[in-house]
Amino acid sequence: MRAWLDGHLLETPETPALGVLDHGFVVGDGVFETVKIEHDRPFALTRHLDRLQRSAEGLGIGAPDVDLVREGVAATLDGQDIPFGRLRITVTSGRGPLGSARGDGPQTVIVAAEAVERPPAVSRIVTVPWPRNERGALAGLKTTSYAENAIMVEHALARGASEAVMPNTRGELCEGTGSNIFYVLDGTLVTPTLDAGPLAGVTRALVLEWAMDELDAVEHDAPIDVLERADEVILVGTTRDVQAIEQVDDRTYPAPGPVTQKLQQIWAREAAKGIDP
Ligand SMILES: Cc1ncc(COP(=O)(O)O)c(C=O)c1O
Repeated sequence: MRAWLDGHLLETPETPALGVLDHGFVVGDGVFETVKIEHDRPFALTRHLDRLQRSAEGLGIGAPDVDLVREGVAATLDGQDIPFGRLRITVTSGRGPLGSARGDGPQTVIVAAEAVERPPAVSRIVTVPWPRNERGALAGLKTTSYAENAIMVEHALARGASEAVMPNTRGELCEGTGSNIFYVLDGTLVTPTLDAGPLAGVTRALVLEWAMDELDAVEHDAPIDVLERADEVILVGTTRDVQAIEQVDDRTYPAPGPVTQKLQQIWAREAAKGIDP
């Protein structure tokens, strides 16, 4: 594990380095990205940095200095030997008071990298009753206020699943805590629209772009129990890429089913063309 904070590599990433008044720590007033590392190189970094900017502007903390972030990414990955891993970029509003109102910065910028195991090819999910608020102030933003997600993923892990999938406040299928969901219904690959409130996933966008010419793929909203009628279920996200789902709650699915296999082939072929699609 290596970490970089505001222009400097930390001697050891475990050394305390963040001020106790950092508003990202005090109230979760920050944004972040998780980027896949393939052989020491960040995958789709430009798309992740674009979303980092959109999230920061949406949160009202102002656009981060993207050149500085790129510098941090390069310094963090320089000389590392990470065949597969994740890079975490975090930008907070910086030092602030102990309440919710903000201070006046400057922003805190952190980059950290670690090797991780490749996720399994097949996994299980559970649905949870807690809704994603598609009309909330944080809808569509990747902020460090992720404690709801922590509760949900712990709920999933305690039930032998790797991810929790939630509805929105209208009861429509929305997303996982760190993934977007697709399913296959009558041969069509379907994913919820962004109006349903999921994060605009980088993997989701690439899947839709890359599958468009070869699969029948649509964005469409439906009640969360549509999964009971689905022929195949797929999770997509950074590090999972395109993952076959064999079980949702008590229901089982072929994994990988035929459409999932085709999608995984498309993904592998297109992703091999370049590290920053
Ligand atoms: C809430 C949420 N939804 C979806 C995703 C998937 O997005 P991406 O493909 O950009 O990793 C993430 C990413 O971690 C996420 O946090």
